[in-house]
Amino acid sequence: MHNEIEKILISEEEIQSKCKELGAQLTEEYEGRFPLAIGVLKGAMPFMGDLLKRVETHLEMDFMDVSSYDGGMRSTGEVKIVKDLDTSVEGRDLIIVEDIIDSGLTLSYLVDLFKYRKAKSIKIVTLLDKPEGRTSHIKADTVGFEVPDEFVVGYGLDYNEKYRNLPYIGILKPEVYGG
Ligand code: PRP
Ligand code: MN
Ligand code: MG
Repeated sequence: MHNEIEKILISEEEIQSKCKELGAQLTEEYEGRFPLAIGVLKGAMPFMGDLLKRVETHLEMDFMDVSSYDGGMRSTGEVKIVKDLDTSVEGRDLIIVEDIIDSGLTLSYLVDLFKYRKAKSIKIVTLLDKPEGRTSHIKADTVGFEVPDEFVVGYGLDYNEKYRNLPYIGILKPEVYGG
């Protein structure tokens, strides 16, 4: 699997130390409250685990599965709810956890939905931000790393459902996706 990666953009060590740093920030900000952390499946899964284990105050976890990519490299332009939350967001402080913001479509859809459902506050925490990909007007409150406009995989990010289990973020060799 590793020989299909052209280069490592963000190492395992860099990711883990970022999770520690951001976890400490969240601890300070949400101390004494009981936020609802929402992981956006499936990509946010590794980051959600590593980030939230660094938060030293009570929080609740829930998951939502929305999809706009159908496994490929390009957004279909329309967001579908595959699995909704179990919990009501009304009156809650939300922390949305994402692996990457690219076009911004996924998050602008979710933010609108949670506002409509009367969340008290909404904070967006994303490991990666790809500002050049943006078509929707959305900005994360907290960004781990900015990435260039290249197809990145690993640590939750997939290509045709592969590479999510890499412990780092890398760039795929073009021959793997026929480029
Ligand atoms: C990917 C990624 C983000 C979203 C970002 O998810 O994990 O959730 O796309 O792209 P956007 O800003 O252009 O909306 P995807 O829909 O591929 O589902 P997955 O997490 O299950 O891979
Ligand atoms: Mn996703
Ligand atoms: Mg995907």
